[in-house]
Amino acid sequence: MSSTKTPINIAVMVSGHGRGSNLQAIMDACKEGRIDGRVAVVIGVKDDTPAMERARSQGILTVEVRPKEFATDEEYGEGLLAALSEYQIDLVCLAGYMRVLPSSVVRAYRWRIMNIHPALIPLFGGKGMYGEHVHQAALDYGVKVSGCTVHFVDEEYDTGPIILQKAVPVEEGDTPETLAARILVQEHIAYSEAIQLFAQARLRVDGRVVHVL
Ligand code: GRF
Repeated sequence: MSSTKTPINIAVMVSGHGRGSNLQAIMDACKEGRIDGRVAVVIGVKDDTPAMERARSQGILTVEVRPKEFATDEEYGEGLLAALSEYQIDLVCLAGYMRVLPSSVVRAYRWRIMNIHPALIPLFGGKGMYGEHVHQAALDYGVKVSGCTVHFVDEEYDTGPIILQKAVPVEEGDTPETLAARILVQEHIAYSEAIQLFAQARLRVDGRVVHVL
């Protein structure tokens, strides 16, 4: 799972609803030298989304790979693999990508795909836990601390080995929106840090434990 050459080529994957703020944070960190890498391509499930437009406006290549255009998930996986190999991708970063990746992609890029989740996994993760649902669940449960998790992607939602987490206190009177906004600041920091650890070949996966060398 370690990279041998830098700068690494990063593919960021986004879905329809994402604003692309994590994408922006990754692009900024690459530009400012906080990540030894470059965003080689942004792959979206459709072309006309805020995240895809954001990438294009900053001169980053975008490629649409529409799941609906493939008869099966397996074929969608082949479409994704073709795009990823075309740009010689070292690391795939899911940033507001709302689907489970086809298993062929997970296998081909084992421990070379990351995701960010706006809670402290294993809490408030899994299918249906996205956007405000995550923060509403945390507030309903009454946790005093939430946060974000960067993890490697395996075949299920939010279950892969954890790379790093940032804790964010829940404050009296928090709404899903206020908590989300406070966590988002930490997401941007955490994602860039995790990617840089990967670029420096400092992540080793042992079972489900990620060691930072
Ligand atoms: C973030 O909250 C991230 O944790 C989750 O999807 C959201 C994407 O937001 N996986 P953005 O598009 O990066 O602003």
